Parts: sequence; C-alpha cells; structure tokens
Amino acid sequence: MSVASASLDIQKIREQFPILNQEVNGKPLIYLDNAASSQTAKRVIDSLIQFYEKDHANIHRGIHTLAERSTKAFEETRERVHEFINSAEADEIIFTKGTTESINLVAQAWGSKYLKEGDEILISQLEHHSNIVPWQLAAERTGAIIKVIPINQKGEILLEEYKKLLSERTKLVAVNYVSNSLGTINPVKEIVSAALDVGATTLIDAAQAAPHIKIDVQELNCDFLALSSHKMYGPTGVGVLYGRREILEDMPPYQGGGEMIKDVSFNGTTYNDIPYKFEAGTPNIGEVIAFKYAMDFIDEMGHENIQAYEHELLEYANKKLRSIKGFTPIGTSDEKASVISFLIENVHQYDLGQLLDVRGIAVRTGHHCTQPLMDFLEIDGTVRASFAVYNTKGEIDVFCDALESIVKKFS
Ligand code: ALA
Repeated sequence: MSVASASLDIQKIREQFPILNQEVNGKPLIYLDNAASSQTAKRVIDSLIQFYEKDHANIHRGIHTLAERSTKAFEETRERVHEFINSAEADEIIFTKGTTESINLVAQAWGSKYLKEGDEILISQLEHHSNIVPWQLAAERTGAIIKVIPINQKGEILLEEYKKLLSERTKLVAVNYVSNSLGTINPVKEIVSAALDVGATTLIDAAQAAPHIKIDVQELNCDFLALSSHKMYGPTGVGVLYGRREILEDMPPYQGGGEMIKDVSFNGTTYNDIPYKFEAGTPNIGEVIAFKYAMDFIDEMGHENIQAYEHELLEYANKKLRSIKGFTPIGTSDEKASVISFLIENVHQYDLGQLLDVRGIAVRTGHHCTQPLMDFLEIDGTVRASFAVYNTKGEIDVFCDALESIVKKFS
C-alpha cells in the first residue's frame, strides 16, 4: 500500500456515509455507481438539515437576519469553489444546477455571440451527451460546424489528429477531463495549450475529474470549466461554471429574471455584474451552502491520497476481473480514473446489472449517455463499476465473486 493511501482511514470515511450502512435485497449494499452520483457525506446532510430547520431564507434580497445569514453562507461557498479550483477571483464562479446546465449556458450565451457560420467547434469522440447536444443546438442556430477529435480503441484521444483539426476556423474546443464511460484521463493541459495557439476558446467538462483530481483552472489555462456537486459527495442540483472574467463580462446573459439585473424598465434592462448576471432566479440555496462541506471533506482527505487509494482499488479490481471467464474490459488507457467498463461474453449487460442488484451491488449499465462513443466501439453499452474513496477491496471481492457466480449460471 502506498504511503499516500495509508494515510486515509477508510473505515472512518465510511462512517461519514450513513447510506452505505444498509441491506439491499437482503445483502449489504455495495455501491459502485459513483460516476453517476456519489453518496452524500454526513456533514453535507447535516448542513442541509441545519439550513431547512434554522436558516432558510432567500438570498441577496432580504435585509432580515435569516436572509443575511443564508446570503453569507451562499457566498462563502462561492469563495470555497474559487479556492478549490484556484480561479483568479470568486466572481468567476457561477452556480448552475449541474454540469449540463453549465455547458448549455456557454453554448447559448457565449455561442450566440461568438459562433458564426462556418466556425468550427471541436469535441471528442469520448464526450457525454451533455457536451455534444448543446453544441449541436448551437451549431443549428449559428451555422457553426462540429468536428470530432478521434480516439483509439483504448479510448484515448489521438493528440496528433486533434492538432491537425485545429485551424483559424476553430472557435471552441470542448472536451472532458475524464471520460464518464471509460475513465480515461485526458491530457487536457496539452489540449488547451494547442487550442490557444490557434486562438480558440476552451471548455473543460470536469464532472468526472473533480472528485478524483486536483483542479487548477489557472494552471490548465482554460476559459471555461464545468463540474457537479453530486459527483463530489455533495448534494444534487448544484453545478459550477468557471469562466474567465473578460469572457464572462463580454457574454450576453443566459436566462432573464430576478437577480441578473441592475435596473428594469419597459424601455430596457441593464444587467448585473458577474457572477449574478448568469444567476437568474432563486438558486438551490441550501444545496449550494451544503456543497461547501463536500469540498472541505475532499480537501481534508487530499486529492493525492484519494487518487492513490482509488488507483489501488482500480488495479486490484482489474487484476481480479481479468480472471473471470469472458471478461472484456472496455477502455484500457494507461491513464484512468477509478472506472471499469466491461462486457462479459454471453451475458447481456442489462442482465448483469440486474443480477448484481439482486446481490446488493449497484453498477450502471447501458450507453452511459455516450452513444457516439458506443457506436465507435461498435457496442450497445457496457457494465460500469466506478469506485469512490469509501469503497474497499473487500467490496471488490464480493463484486467479483458475484460476477463469477453469474457467469457460471450462464455457461
Ligand atoms: N453522467 C453520469 C454518468 O456517467 C450520469 O453516469
């Protein structure tokens, strides 16, 4: 065991997740669907209870005590995100309801101003639908063209091919940091740097990276970055869009409504400063406040320790799974987060998912919202086991034994 992982007390970490302590279908729950949504840390749940029992009020509007209290706590989370991803300022942090909304915000607001007929948007073959469809909609509206960065059979971006696609027509490069389906960690720093050479704007979908990898937007040098709280041990309904100040200031608003304005009259409206210009309406206040505790939780463990431990789980699982008859890993990049996608000969992925659930084991099956990737791999979908910091080798043993017994039934 590496020193880094030895410094995490996994049993203590598990105690912070009450949901793990239950039986599902008469068996102890083994939750391996963390890439879809990680479980929520106790301190995050406590914060939600505190908010709804004691502090609930709308923000930035009232002058009464509860309103001031919730406004302060809400803005503290913005400061916390600023620190967590090392943005230059807290005003560059916009709260959304998730990564999907963050990307749609850019595609609509930035896209409507900056994309013109014939401009090119580069996305990769690995993208989640949420980093494909918003660009298709933007392309339909503006006449821009989408070009796809190719990958190899291991599920790795072909950097040289990517560089050949770049030209003065490239207006945007939007790629994920970590593939949700395969777990590939993409060389985003190099991707951004090459995009900058042709003057393209860059967006990183960091939804799958944020729970595992330390993110530093200034080091990455990207223009936009999106992430979701619910994959980071935080509540659902909270996303972040990081954007460089100059670009955010120059972009038109995304949605109109309260909060995003300075003055409204029937003759016209002046918009608020960033970040409020992009935060129309009442946000998920309690959930944003609670998200702060999820980032505290991650930082207390340390990304390096988390990554080292999860890598150990990944290697352990890979080794065991390879001995199962008919096991085929899907996505075999050397650089991977703790995601294992696979198929087993003669057993349909949906059957595997259901038969694992009967044994208390939660995995995801299907195309994982990456149909173009599945088309490239010429498959309908996979079974995906994705590990979080609270998973254990003991759970992987149970998971592998369950797979063995299912495979035996089918052979
Ligand atoms: N994007 C999430 C996943 O990969 C929902 O499962």
